[in-house]
Amino acid sequence: MRSFTTSAVVGALALAGSASAASATSAAPTAAPTSNTTCAQSFYILVARGSGEAVVPPGSLKYPDYTGLAGAAALKVQSQIPGVVIGGVVYPALDGVTTTGNLNLTAYATSEANGTTAIADEITAYTKKCPGVKIALMGYSQGAQVVQDALCGGIGGDAKFSLGGTTTGFNAYAPISQDLVEQNVLAVALIADPSHIANTTYDHGNSTRNGVFSRTNTTACNPYVAKGLYGSWCQADDLFCDSGTSLNIHDYEPLTYEDQVAQFLVDRWNNYTTSASPSGTGSASGTASAPSGTSTTNAAGRVAGALGQPLLVGASVVLAAWLLN
Ligand SMILES: *[C@@H]1O[C@H](CO)[C@@H](O)[C@H](O)[C@H]1NC(C)=O
Ligand SMILES: *[C@@H]1O[C@H](CO)[C@@H](O)[C@H](O)[C@H]1NC(C)=O
Ligand SMILES: *[C@@H]1O[C@H](CO)[C@@H](O)[C@H](O)[C@H]1NC(C)=O
Ligand SMILES: *[C@@H]1O[C@H](CO)[C@@H](O)[C@H](O)[C@H]1NC(C)=O
Ligand SMILES: *[C@@H]1O[C@H](CO)[C@@H](O)[C@H](O)[C@H]1NC(C)=O
Ligand SMILES: *[C@@H]1O[C@H](CO)[C@@H](O)[C@H](O)[C@H]1NC(C)=O
Ligand SMILES: *[C@@H]1O[C@H](CO)[C@@H](O)[C@H](O)[C@H]1NC(C)=O
Repeated sequence: MRSFTTSAVVGALALAGSASAASATSAAPTAAPTSNTTCAQSFYILVARGSGEAVVPPGSLKYPDYTGLAGAAALKVQSQIPGVVIGGVVYPALDGVTTTGNLNLTAYATSEANGTTAIADEITAYTKKCPGVKIALMGYSQGAQVVQDALCGGIGGDAKFSLGGTTTGFNAYAPISQDLVEQNVLAVALIADPSHIANTTYDHGNSTRNGVFSRTNTTACNPYVAKGLYGSWCQADDLFCDSGTSLNIHDYEPLTYEDQVAQFLVDRWNNYTTSASPSGTGSASGTASAPSGTSTTNAAGRVAGALGQPLLVGASVVLAAWLLN
C-alpha cells in the first residue's frame, strides 16, 4: 500500500514537478465559515478532520459534517455538557495519494495550508460573532497538523522536505495571535498528529517517536502548553504521528482515544467553570454534568466491539463501521 518514507515523498514530489505549495506568504482570501457557526451556550468544539475523511459521514458512521471521526469524541462531550456546539473546519483535507500509492506532498501541503488559513480566519470570525464563548480545538491526522500550524505558526523554517528541488516546510503563516488564543481557547486536543513531538508533558498514548513532520519550533505554542491547554494522543507504530509502519493503527486512532479525548475536554470545561466561579454558581447554571467516566446516552448505543465492517472513507482511509444511537 501507500508508504510514507522520505524517498516515497521525494518521488511523489518529483512527479509533482515544481508546483509550490509552500508559497503561503501572500494574502489569503477570506475562508468559508465553519460548518456550524451557532453560538454555543457552553463550549464550542471546532474539529479539523483527517486526510481523505468525507465531509458527510458515509454509511452508518455518525459525526457532524466536516468533523470526521474525531467528531465522535466531540459528540461524547456534547452528551455530557449542555449547550455544546460542534463545528468543522471547512478545508479540503486532501488525501493526496497518487496512483502509485505514494503521498503527493504537493496536494497534501496545499490542503494543509488551506486549513491553516481557514482555521485562523474561522476562529477570528467565531469569536467576533460569539464573544465570550470558549473554544476547544480538535484535530485528527492532517487536521491535527492544521490546528498546530495555526497555533504555533507554520513549520516554516524547519525544513522537512524537498519540493521541486527546493527544501521547504509546509507554510509560512504566522501563528494566530496569542491574545486571541488565550482569551478564547480552553483546550487543544490532537490525535495522530504528523507534527507530533515525542515525550512532551502533554503527550498521551504509547508513542515514543516523533511524527514524520515533527515540529521543532514551538515558541508560539509553549505558553498554551504551560497553561495546560494541550493534549496530544499518538499510538506506537502509527505510520504518521509515530513514524511507524501501521496505517491501520492510524486509521483507528480517533476511536482508540475517543474516550480519553472526550474526558480531557470535559475536564478542561469543568476546571474552567469551577475556577471561573469558585463559589459554585457556575455549576449551578447547569453547564456541567458528571464528568468522570459517565459515558451515558450516546455511548450506550455504541458498541466498542462493532469494529467489524470496513468502509472506505476517502481515497485510502479504511475505517470501521460504527454505530452511534
Ligand atoms: C449546529 O449545532 C446546533 C447545536 O448542536 C444544532 O442544533 C444545529 O442543527 C447545528 N447546525 C448545523 C448547520 O449543523
Ligand atoms: C480552500 O478549500 C476550500 C474547499 O474546502 C475552497 O473552497 C477554497 O477556495 C480553498 N481556499 C484556497 C485559498 O484555495
Ligand atoms: C499532485 O497534486 C497536485 C496538486 O493537487 C497535482 O497537480 C498533481 O498532478 C499531483 N501529482 C500526482 C503525481 O498525482
Ligand atoms: C519560531 O517561531 C517564532 C514564533 O512564530 C518565530 O518568531 C521565530 O522566528 C521562529 N524561529 C525560527 C528559527 O523559525
Ligand atoms: C500501545 O497502546 C495500544 C492501545 O492501548 C495497545 O494496543 C498497543 O499494544 C500498545 N503498543 C505498544 C508497543 O505498547
Ligand atoms: C522518548 O522516550 C523514550 C523512553 O524514554 C525513548 O526511548 C525515546 O527515544 C524518546 N523519543 C525521542 C524522540 O526522544
Ligand atoms: C483540572 O484541574 C485539576 C486540579 O487542578 C488538574 O489536576 C487537572 O490536570 C486539570 N485537568 C485538565 C484536563 O486540565
